[in-house]
Amino acid sequence: MQSRSLLALAASGALAATPPGFEPSSETGLLVSYGGVAALDGTVVAKEVTQEAPTIGTQSKLDGTSFAVLMIDLDIPTNNPPETNTLLHWMQTGLTQSSSAITLNTTLGSTSAFLFSVPQDQEAFGPYFGPSPPARIPLSHTYTEIIVDTSDASEEDLSVLKTAAESRQGFNAQTVLTSAGLADKVVAGNFFNVTNPGPVQDATASNSTTGGGNSTNPGSSPSQSPITNAAVSQRGSASLFAAMMAGIALLAL
Ligand SMILES: *[C@@H]1O[C@H](CO)[C@@H](O)[C@H](O)[C@H]1NC(C)=O
Ligand SMILES: *[C@@H]1O[C@H](CO)[C@@H](O)[C@H](O)[C@H]1NC(C)=O
Ligand SMILES: *[C@@H]1O[C@H](CO)[C@@H](O)[C@H](O)[C@H]1NC(C)=O
Ligand SMILES: *[C@@H]1O[C@H](CO)[C@@H](O)[C@H](O)[C@H]1NC(C)=O
Repeated sequence: MQSRSLLALAASGALAATPPGFEPSSETGLLVSYGGVAALDGTVVAKEVTQEAPTIGTQSKLDGTSFAVLMIDLDIPTNNPPETNTLLHWMQTGLTQSSSAITLNTTLGSTSAFLFSVPQDQEAFGPYFGPSPPARIPLSHTYTEIIVDTSDASEEDLSVLKTAAESRQGFNAQTVLTSAGLADKVVAGNFFNVTNPGPVQDATASNSTTGGGNSTNPGSSPSQSPITNAAVSQRGSASLFAAMMAGIALLAL
């Protein structure tokens, strides 16, 4: 644990930021703490602790007077595994950063942190809902959070974000931030892993759209719905039909 301490990571410059391959990327680590449980560097975090929005900050004060946070699940199952889709879990604008540091104590150690705060009067474009990976492939989901510097963003730029947040599934940060003129404004990021214990259930053989288990998210979060793609689901129901016929044939014996 010592070698994974935040201070050690910071000192070694190894505090990872956005996950490999994610664009737009940042090399500045966002500190993410769910009630003291660090959600950094791809670490595995229990679903239960992630159901309320985390505390976020950075080790050094960022330039900028206004920020947005986005959290995206990069591993939403589809009916055509191992293909995956994405899902926006959180988009909140109007964040400001404290001008003084506090000591943030987490499961990965303590560090000084300049925390972000959300103004009370600013409604989220995408209210936070917590990870809840279903018992489908892939069981492990990578959740990435990014901070976007919106200090110079116009009303128009922000309205692009607002509109984009209305469709949570298939959220493409690169495309959205590019259309908002903010693709080069990602100033910090991080990622963590939440894993469904499994076993994988056959989504087509269950009543449940969650593919197993109850969601702890009220309002049936869209993370639980399989991605519906006409071609794919048709193939899916054709094979389900075939499986049912095979089952009936067996029963008939
Ligand atoms: C973090 O821990 C330090 C000592 O280890 C303590 O002084 C400080 O109050 C703690 N911070 C919080 C926010 O609990
Ligand atoms: C996430 O954690 C699980 C469980 O420890 C592990 O099997 C999986 O490989 C991890 N996924 C990633 C992308 O790191
Ligand atoms: C499907 O739902 C029906 C009614 O809600 C229930 O009676 C049945 O047991 C469910 N089947 C499975 C496999 O969960
Ligand atoms: C799902 O939730 C319903 C209602 O909250 C509850 O009655 C049921 O037992 C739950 N099922 C599972 C598998 O947790």
